[in-house]
Amino acid sequence: MDQYKLVIQGERPLSGETYVSGGKNTSVAVIPAVLLCDDVVVIENLPDIEDVRVLRRILEHLGAKVSFDAEQSRMTIDPRSVNTCEVPFQYSQQMRASYYLMGALLGRCGEANVGYPGGCDIGSRPIDQHIKGFSMLGAEIEECGGLMRFKGKLSGSVINFDMSTVGGTINVMLAAVKARGYTVLNNAAREPHVVDLANFLNSMGANIKGAGTDTIRIRGVDRLHGGSYTVIPDQIETGTLMIAAAATRGDIAIHGTIPTHMDALTAKLLEMGVSVSSADDVIWVRVKRGHRAIRLTTQVYPGFPTDLQQPMSALLCRAGGRSEVNETIYDNRFKHLDEMRRMGAKVTISGRTAYIEGVPQLRGAPVSATDLRGGAALVIAGLMATGVTEIYNPSFIARGYEHLEQKLCSLGADVRREEAE
Ligand code: EPU
Repeated sequence: MDQYKLVIQGERPLSGETYVSGGKNTSVAVIPAVLLCDDVVVIENLPDIEDVRVLRRILEHLGAKVSFDAEQSRMTIDPRSVNTCEVPFQYSQQMRASYYLMGALLGRCGEANVGYPGGCDIGSRPIDQHIKGFSMLGAEIEECGGLMRFKGKLSGSVINFDMSTVGGTINVMLAAVKARGYTVLNNAAREPHVVDLANFLNSMGANIKGAGTDTIRIRGVDRLHGGSYTVIPDQIETGTLMIAAAATRGDIAIHGTIPTHMDALTAKLLEMGVSVSSADDVIWVRVKRGHRAIRLTTQVYPGFPTDLQQPMSALLCRAGGRSEVNETIYDNRFKHLDEMRRMGAKVTISGRTAYIEGVPQLRGAPVSATDLRGGAALVIAGLMATGVTEIYNPSFIARGYEHLEQKLCSLGADVRREEAE
């Protein structure tokens, strides 16, 4: 149980201007990728979030020299002093993306001993496709003492993923970038952070083509140099802010975005009657009337992202009519709706589908965050509700959102931290 809770006084329309931070799911791939470089790397636009801090501790454990200027959103990593390829379970279990240490260390040292990853409990999250990819590249794999052990001199191969997997695509790309010869990843994930990681590696000397399509071709190189790189803005934070503006019937501008990354969400908000427009790196969200119910199905990029399903389904709890939300990526990503029932939400869950009957009002209540995006969904519920909402275990939110409370308060919300009894 966290020592603090978030207390939200609801029903305040958001208005004004804000900005989006660097992408979490890009950052957690780029930081391990630095292990493949032979010189110092400076990463710009890195968000100050718990997952980044955990990765910093892991890199320091490995022997890298790391400094992080949170004010400037800049991390400097010198990987030349790395002296071990082992990441014990007490580190790896602190986050999901610790699995990228497998591909990065394997690519660097020809060996990686890494504990099982942790992360949000949103359903079963196997990594069989990562392991299949490493094996196809020539790694031998065994499990021993709670560690996954990978070893081998890697050479290029053709890997056909059985499903579109972001983590699997990135991890195998990390392992293959310095493997001997030519690797082809078929049925690769096309998410923006896959493209950003490929751009980072290419800017350090890698030879990766096709990222953003479902076929990625990698010609192995002997070395990657150092340099500096700026990570892309966070697509899910942008979407969460857009949904928060819609939820409070607000009028906001979000700066520093890539609007095309938001097309799937924008289309759904327009369908609900929300006004969304964009120019260059700014997105404006305005609401003039009540929202209409919609049908929503999560899909891989460029479809509607599962990571925005939870904030969006919170918003749908107050839309006029009956909405249907189909979650196709994870088998247990509706826990926030159970919490929201205590706020008056009318929801029926059947397997991976939630049927949401919009209600005119939600009432503030004590609720508990159970995962990162579910926590953000409860914040949106609290912003919409009458009275006071208390969110327990809000540290889930700090894993992936930089300064969310401050950003919302600067837009006129009333969100504060208080000691949890
Ligand atoms: N899957 C397998 N086997 C594998 C890999 C994946 O069966 O080897 C299945 C998963 O169980 C899931 C689906 O394939 O049902 C998609 O999983 P994917 O590998 O794409 O997800 P991930 O790499 O574990 C990343 C993000 C998630 C985001 C998903 C989907 C990171 C660190 N995590 O997870 O982000 O939901 O892609 O876009 O990048 C979040 O930010 O809140 C979050 C959960």
